[in-house]
Amino acid sequence: MIQLSPQAVREALVREQEQFSRLHPVSKKMFEEGQQHYLYGAPSHWFRRWAGKFPVYAKEAKGTELQCVDGHRYVDFCLGDTGAMCGHAPSAVTKAVSAQLDRGATLMLPTEKARWVGEELAARFGLPYWGFTTSASDANRAAIRIARMITGREKVLVFSGCYHGSVEEAHVALDSNGKMIMRNGIHPNAVDHERVSVVVEFNDIDALEEKLAAGDVACVLTEPFMTNYGMVAPAPGFHGALRELTRRHGTLLLVDETHTFSSGPGGYTKLHSLQPDMLVLGKAVGGGIPVGLYGVSEDVARRMWAQVPKVDPTKVRQSAHLGFGGTLAGSALQVEAVRAVLAEVLTPSAFDHMVGLAKSLAPRMREVVSQFDLPWYVEQLGARVEIMFAPDAPRNAADVAAGRDGDLEALLHVYFLNRGVLITPFHCMLLMCPASVQADSDKYVAVLKDFCEFVVRECRVHE
Ligand SMILES: Cc1ncc(COP(=O)(O)O)c(C=O)c1O
Repeated sequence: MIQLSPQAVREALVREQEQFSRLHPVSKKMFEEGQQHYLYGAPSHWFRRWAGKFPVYAKEAKGTELQCVDGHRYVDFCLGDTGAMCGHAPSAVTKAVSAQLDRGATLMLPTEKARWVGEELAARFGLPYWGFTTSASDANRAAIRIARMITGREKVLVFSGCYHGSVEEAHVALDSNGKMIMRNGIHPNAVDHERVSVVVEFNDIDALEEKLAAGDVACVLTEPFMTNYGMVAPAPGFHGALRELTRRHGTLLLVDETHTFSSGPGGYTKLHSLQPDMLVLGKAVGGGIPVGLYGVSEDVARRMWAQVPKVDPTKVRQSAHLGFGGTLAGSALQVEAVRAVLAEVLTPSAFDHMVGLAKSLAPRMREVVSQFDLPWYVEQLGARVEIMFAPDAPRNAADVAAGRDGDLEALLHVYFLNRGVLITPFHCMLLMCPASVQADSDKYVAVLKDFCEFVVRECRVHE
């Protein structure tokens, strides 16, 4: 198989970044001006993660097309890192949300649409009781709080390579000696991870069993299929073992479907008949309006109510056991946005379309990669596809780390940007939405072919 020279990749990256700079003078100027008032040049620190050294400034986006201030048009497979999995400006959400804005956005009162949304969430994801937050991070934290409240335990077990937003307990990973460390050199935040976190490799049932046997883990927090550090599939039998072990050791199972909702209308959970105690949704479920959701099982709800009765005239006005914050959670605007998304945008037939496109794209990508004899692996889950720079499917974060190549990833990102394709800036993942069409996939495959030809020509190691 073809090997690439790191030095040649680095040089090609610099040339592509120069080209990006030439193609985007207005974005470049805006980012320079942004340095005066934003900590990292733009309203969010995430925006500096694009590989061109500065982000494209967006003018407008509709469906899968995004236009930037320099006048370039892109096919968007990043889709706001899943926040726009409904496609940009989906008209059903725009209409519903605009009308709700006219009727009042946030009232500290429920609206009549709450009933339909609750029923739909329960039917889709199989958990009867739900709560709203304003982000997936918040929903994870709310679920962890519940887990601690009803188990009386402090620790949260996560898998190395995981990402669950601003959940401090999850900011850990295993180093090459199997020792728990802060992930990605993230700055400590006065959290005693030895006390509150446990981390093992994904798919490592023995390690999981050993850690849970200690009897001090409140919940396991996991994506059902890892999507945030490359894409890592659960090994056959993993979910069965995870469920059995968590039950045996009195630990709750919290499944974070923020990304894996892209698997189908009821997420990976429904598709694979998982039985989590708690489930979290975020990003796409609000169609662009900030929404997080957590669902809990009958058993979890009953254990909560045993501590804090659901209806008790002396306590009914006190809800602090769920934590403070969330003034805008469950707002009229959020509920209406989620209603529009579930009823009109991310419908079962929309998933058929999105998943169908991803399913047909993945083998075409594999074909291109093998045509150029490159040692790369393509994974697909529902509407999501990713290229990883290692020949085989990773089993865990250690495998992903062994195959990761920062410069090559950056080169792929800028190369695609310079040719009108946006992919998620963190790794090489792409996503379909209801507005995605075959021509979008064709464009991606054409640029991928060019890219493979380019790296083989420019960066190949000659024996
Ligand atoms: C699995 C998972 N959980 C939680 C989050 C955090 O989402 P947010 O930043 O919207 O809170 C993310 C973000 O990428 C995610 O991928």
